[in-house]
Amino acid sequence: MADLAHLVLQTLDKGPISDTAVTFPDVETGVVHGALNSLAARSMVTYKPIDIEFWTLTPEAEEIVEKGSHEFRLLEEVTKSMEGLKLADVTKVLGAAGKPGQSRAFKNGWIKKDGDKLVSNVSALPEDTTAKDLKTIKETGTLGDAKELGELRKRKLIEKGKKLSYSVEKGPEFALEIKKLETDLTPEMIASGSWKTQTFKPYNFDAEGAVTASGALHPLNKVREEFRQIFFAMGFSEMPTNQFVESGFWNFDTLFVPQQHPARDLQDTFYIKDPVKADEPEDKTYWENIHKVHEEGAYGSIGYRYPWNAEESLRLVLRTHTTAVSSRMLHKLAADPKPARFFSIDRVFRNEAVDATHLAEFHQIEGVIADYDLTLGDLIGFMDRFFTRMGVDKLRFKPAYNPYTEPSMEIFAWHAGLNKWIEIGNSGMFRPEMLESMGLPKDLRVHGFGLSLERPTMIKYKLSNIRELVGHKVNLDFIETNPAVRLDETLV
Ligand code: PHE
Repeated sequence: MADLAHLVLQTLDKGPISDTAVTFPDVETGVVHGALNSLAARSMVTYKPIDIEFWTLTPEAEEIVEKGSHEFRLLEEVTKSMEGLKLADVTKVLGAAGKPGQSRAFKNGWIKKDGDKLVSNVSALPEDTTAKDLKTIKETGTLGDAKELGELRKRKLIEKGKKLSYSVEKGPEFALEIKKLETDLTPEMIASGSWKTQTFKPYNFDAEGAVTASGALHPLNKVREEFRQIFFAMGFSEMPTNQFVESGFWNFDTLFVPQQHPARDLQDTFYIKDPVKADEPEDKTYWENIHKVHEEGAYGSIGYRYPWNAEESLRLVLRTHTTAVSSRMLHKLAADPKPARFFSIDRVFRNEAVDATHLAEFHQIEGVIADYDLTLGDLIGFMDRFFTRMGVDKLRFKPAYNPYTEPSMEIFAWHAGLNKWIEIGNSGMFRPEMLESMGLPKDLRVHGFGLSLERPTMIKYKLSNIRELVGHKVNLDFIETNPAVRLDETLV
């Protein structure tokens, strides 16, 4: 390339180059461009791309260049035999070239018919101009005679092609030698004064800078942020969820989950070894209310009628749902009952078999709404508005069971991509056993719902395995480069 650059300079010294493809026919266009670029960067040349049109021969024309035109070959055959060429023998002698050769030779007035034979109509063999013109085109890519060019094209003997080439002129710094450009001004140059005569490489302000290393938000964080903004826009305030360890009391008992419930089994819940026990709840009246509503019933409920164990409620667990936090918040609200909207998005833990879509820990999105005389219709209406903000407009609800809500509903959304209903969450109206134990007034109803954060995130980022999202197999490049998410487009 350096040699090509010198060659360009030497050629330019004699005059501008109008077409590099002609001047350097054996060098690839890309290589020529590279050399011109580096010379242009030093302002030694200026260059412009030009589109060169040229003509190429079709296979039929190649054959003509080699053997002569069909009409000429026919005339040769006719002249060869004294008695002329039998019409019936034309194809035999010339093959596929016979018929078109015959009609052209007639047109040119080269032959005439004599009975069932063709005989010559010229005194001497004329020039085979077709073959000659095609040869010129093969060598130079074009022909001076535009009419003939058009004719050959019509006969499908030539095709138009295009190639990229450049015209080049001297630039302001033109010279025959390529000086090494200095990239740095050094203390030595200043001390010796050599900087005065040095040529410096100009700054390239168009060059892209190196990507600086920086932190990146995890996709779960991005989707969480989108959900947070939706909650804030709908008048919710965020619950404090920084406590992963809860007592059985807050995680289960306050939610009217009986102490024998399978969810409280070791197989489902992680219990803490050290310390094993929580302090007793500060609100002793509330503690006693919970005891009573489980064991004997209260507030119109007959309860579960089993001996409630205080020790069991003090066992420490990794919270299995953020509803433990909602319960704490509603208990606080009972001190000054009024309409309220709370949400949280944080981590929960379940002792579950790990598979492609489940881990032993995940994130829950949870919302609770407290207001006077709320109905199930309000909950359904709210769900519709909440999910519409995420582009999900088709919802279905299916009766379900939770110990702390009645009625309870699973939430299904229509997934246009998968063409089916998928389960996206769980919801319900909190039971009086739970709310009235806290001291909330009877007519202050509360409904709530819970979704997983992983599910919409996996759908958004088109992941099929949770291990691509969390854990040691996650591709850091994916984390660093994944785009932000807008839930108002479509969630599912
Ligand atoms: N806690 C429920 C779950 O784990 C979700 C839920 C929250 C249901 C609030 C009803 C009310 O799925």
